[in-house]
Amino acid sequence: MVVLGIESTAHTASVGIVGEGAQVLGLASDMYRPPHGGIHPREAANHHVELLPDLVTRALDAAHVRPTEIEAVAFAQGPGLGPCLRAGATVARMLSLVWERPLVPVNHCVAHVEIARVLSGLDDPILLYASGGNTQVIAYARGRYRVLGETLDIGVGNFLDKLWIGLGGTFPGGPALEAEARQGSGEILPLPYSVHGMDVAFSGMLTATLAHHAKGVARPDLAYSVEVTAYSMLTEITERALAHRQRGAVVLGGGVACNERLRTMVRTMVEGRGGSMFAPPRSLCVDNGAMIAWTGLLAFRSGGTVPVEASAVEPRQRTDLVATPWRAG
Ligand code: ATP
Ligand code: FE2
Repeated sequence: MVVLGIESTAHTASVGIVGEGAQVLGLASDMYRPPHGGIHPREAANHHVELLPDLVTRALDAAHVRPTEIEAVAFAQGPGLGPCLRAGATVARMLSLVWERPLVPVNHCVAHVEIARVLSGLDDPILLYASGGNTQVIAYARGRYRVLGETLDIGVGNFLDKLWIGLGGTFPGGPALEAEARQGSGEILPLPYSVHGMDVAFSGMLTATLAHHAKGVARPDLAYSVEVTAYSMLTEITERALAHRQRGAVVLGGGVACNERLRTMVRTMVEGRGGSMFAPPRSLCVDNGAMIAWTGLLAFRSGGTVPVEASAVEPRQRTDLVATPWRAG
């Protein structure tokens, strides 16, 4: 079966077309980049409204698929920025009505997890989902994904983005800080290491790093210290989850999983315990329509369709509040 998925929860508008086994047949994306500062939801939503129709056409063309071959239309229902979510949902509803195909709502976080899991080939790994708005250590149990640990304040990606903007850069900060950190001298500055049981926090590190900056510490040294400290925190809570659950495999997902240092640190930890680590290709770590289409395909098969009138977006929908009946067997 072939499913079209629409992603529009935050900065990225994306349309993916996916077939059996998560084969990505077509993917067309465009990221909204504010000229300065953070993302303004209304401006990002305007970007999505303008671009989504063309992205649908481009994804169909890339996939060499006609609209009549699409069997379901999936969209990211939440969590995310309200205006951005509504832009994608509106396009999905319209396609569902015009093409007379069922509409499938998908949780954005579960989609990050499912695309990473299917590509890993691992059946039941511990998942480290590290992205802009979210930072969660996740495992499946009894009908849904359970959050074993998470950020108590901001997502690690939002932390990197805010920090980079505070250092004079533009969104997104994560990739820029990764490049900057490679130029670091190797010195690690003292920064708050905030691990609380299975949870982490980043706002103290943001304040402390900006204070080092105000005292004249060079950006590469700040970037290196932040990467080492923040990714050590994530590696620690992932290791604790592995130890408790006695599972040998870890799968990374979300935009921050693009980061080479994070990948290496988690891989070193997992392999040291005799397990294995998998991270998807970077185009499928960041927000993309293919992960929505793939999770939509799974949900569709377990009856997860909704009528248009019951398809309202849910900006605060949590990972552990959505049922995942396709995993039950
Ligand atoms: P969420 O999934 O929580 O809703 P999101 O949808 O905004 O968040 P994603 O596209 O999944 O985010 O991830 C974007 C984030 O990933 C940004 O914060 C960006 O800075 C970060 N990021 C992207 N590439 C890298 C990298 N190489 N190193 C570190 N962070 C990165
Ligand atoms: Fe995301």
